[in-house]
Amino acid sequence: MDNFNNTVFIGKVFIDPGEVDSTNSYALQMLKLPVVPIAGTVIFSSSQTKGRGQRGNLWYSENGRNIALSIILYPRFLFVQQQFYLSMAVALGVCRFLQHLIPTDEVFIKWPNDLYVQHKKIGGILIENSLTGNMLSVSVVGIGLNTNQTHFKQLPNATSLSLVTDRQFELIPLAQKLCEYVEATYFMLQPDKLADLKRQYLQKLYQFGVNRHFRRTANGDKLYGRISNVLDNGRLLLTYADEQAESFDIKEIEWVW
Ligand code: BTN
Repeated sequence: MDNFNNTVFIGKVFIDPGEVDSTNSYALQMLKLPVVPIAGTVIFSSSQTKGRGQRGNLWYSENGRNIALSIILYPRFLFVQQQFYLSMAVALGVCRFLQHLIPTDEVFIKWPNDLYVQHKKIGGILIENSLTGNMLSVSVVGIGLNTNQTHFKQLPNATSLSLVTDRQFELIPLAQKLCEYVEATYFMLQPDKLADLKRQYLQKLYQFGVNRHFRRTANGDKLYGRISNVLDNGRLLLTYADEQAESFDIKEIEWVW
């Protein structure tokens, strides 16, 4: 399949293995084979049975209705301390892709890399990195996008492209378009573009600068403050009313709705 005419390298190898447990797991298996997959190889499935989400969660998807894909990348030029920039680049790419389909509604990135429309989650990203010394060596970038699914049992906080646009989408051409956007932001991972990447990521960050409640995971304490930055290592910076700031990683803080 080669309709990836608008990309430089992502999706030139496009594998649709049919039903899989997880496209990320499939990609990780491929990386164990003697023949190394070429950079930009995409594993796509519309029938992922055991999608993996962040923090060991499952990623649910109705058979045949959604995009699940994983991109194999070799960002060997990124230092380990810069790995959050890859996450920002992918989230920004998916965000821009969604924005071109949903022009009237704001699409946001909920820290660190969930995609939100109308205060509901429309997509998620799971990036699995391998390191060599202090550099990244391999990244499997997994993207799940709720596309044509319109009912989300037990997931009241989920939405889909169909729900927000009232349209149906062809999954493979849509996946190709998504890859174009992700490739464009992946190319921002150059030393002179990183500051701009971060600035654009922060511009799309859900509830940036809004005073609201959070909860400290460790003891359940309520916190009231605003997201004022995301540090280069990916930690979220909250600034409280007294202008004191504190940083958190994903396991240390919860949103209070
Ligand atoms: C999250 O929001 O928790 C991240 C969800 C990531 C889901 C995608 S679907 C394609 C790829 N394969 C997986 O098993 N997970 C990611």
